[in-house]
Amino acid sequence: MPNFGDFQLEIYLGGLAGVRPALPMTFAELEARAAKCLSPEILSYVAGGAGNEATQDVNVAAFDRYGLVPRMLAGAAERDLSTELLGVSWSSPLMLAPVGVIGLCAQDGHGDLATARAAAATGTPMIASTLSADPLEDVAAALGDAPGFFQLYTPADRELAASFVRRAEAAGFKGIVVTLDTQILGWRPRDLSMASFPQLQGKCLANYFSDEVFRAKLEKPPEEDPRAAALAWALGFSDPGLSWDDLAWLRSLTDLPLLLKGICHPEDVRRAIDGGIDGIYCSNHGGRQANGGAAAIDMLGPVVEAAGDAVPVIFDSGVRGGEHIVKAIALGASAVGIGRPYAYGLAVGGEAGIVHVIRSLLAEADLLMAVDGYASLADLTPDALLVR
Ligand code: FNR
Repeated sequence: MPNFGDFQLEIYLGGLAGVRPALPMTFAELEARAAKCLSPEILSYVAGGAGNEATQDVNVAAFDRYGLVPRMLAGAAERDLSTELLGVSWSSPLMLAPVGVIGLCAQDGHGDLATARAAAATGTPMIASTLSADPLEDVAAALGDAPGFFQLYTPADRELAASFVRRAEAAGFKGIVVTLDTQILGWRPRDLSMASFPQLQGKCLANYFSDEVFRAKLEKPPEEDPRAAALAWALGFSDPGLSWDDLAWLRSLTDLPLLLKGICHPEDVRRAIDGGIDGIYCSNHGGRQANGGAAAIDMLGPVVEAAGDAVPVIFDSGVRGGEHIVKAIALGASAVGIGRPYAYGLAVGGEAGIVHVIRSLLAEADLLMAVDGYASLADLTPDALLVR
């Protein structure tokens, strides 16, 4: 099997024929080019975070406190980044985190489908958001053989929640990821300055508008009165009172692997495990929800320790390069997600832009493991890191 790092050879060989990569090779350039491709409202929604964005920034900066220690003559000529997780085979630990307005990051407004196709092209697992421009059935179909998971924003209406889960199961998703950190929307000054929230304009609500349970409770169908339908969505988006007591109900909705996203405290890990979940998703939503928080990567170690051997921990927030993937794995993550990087890739280059971002991240991670002498994910343990 080829190593992911071979991507660099492809680029250098292209250079011999006078071809330079059309897509950015650094995150800074990717971000700058995406800013020119997206409308001000969508750019604000994607790039922005909560408050003065200190948490969003520290999510990235905190990775620098961890340094990978090189090992020599360790036989890492071939690397194996594959893993078995949540009942499926992963070609690498990289995954596409749920991004609610990804649909609008594509020129044609169908970014969820472009993401699914990029996932299929690279075999990268995708977690499809509840807030999608296309119905989850279409996203699942575009995923081909790539593993797909459905992210649930638990609506106030429990029948609707059950309907989403049933649909996700029928569509072939391999697990349900319940996001817990968005029972209420965080304070986002960039979006507030624009007075813009795409979903309120009826965008990215295809899963709701195509749902019989949701439609049955509207006076007029969304096609006739989209404004009233969007308002109904806003009023029933979540149950802010959802508590640990409701975990048994969530668990009862499916036999698929169930994960909780947004878990950052060891005690919450223990409660989740007691409630019968199958995986922990350690994340602070990329700093979009609560400002003033700790860096997500700093919370990963204690979360992994609390999870022990009981369930796997997957992670996102602040991952911008291959080194971040490697460090998160060394701290105990079983898989590592990206949000904004692939949203920017889509904005800049469509489906090919996402594929480019995925290949670049994996090539960097793979080459780092090669240079530093770590041949497999199992070799990456906390001992591989020096902590400043
Ligand atoms: C998100 N995120 C998110 N999470 C989720 O569970 N459901 C969702 O619909 C969304 N929507 C969403 C939109 C946008 C524009 C972004 C940037 C993020 C959070 C996402 O899954 C992930 O936790 C973060 O994006 C990870 O941080 P980075 O990689 O963006 O730093």
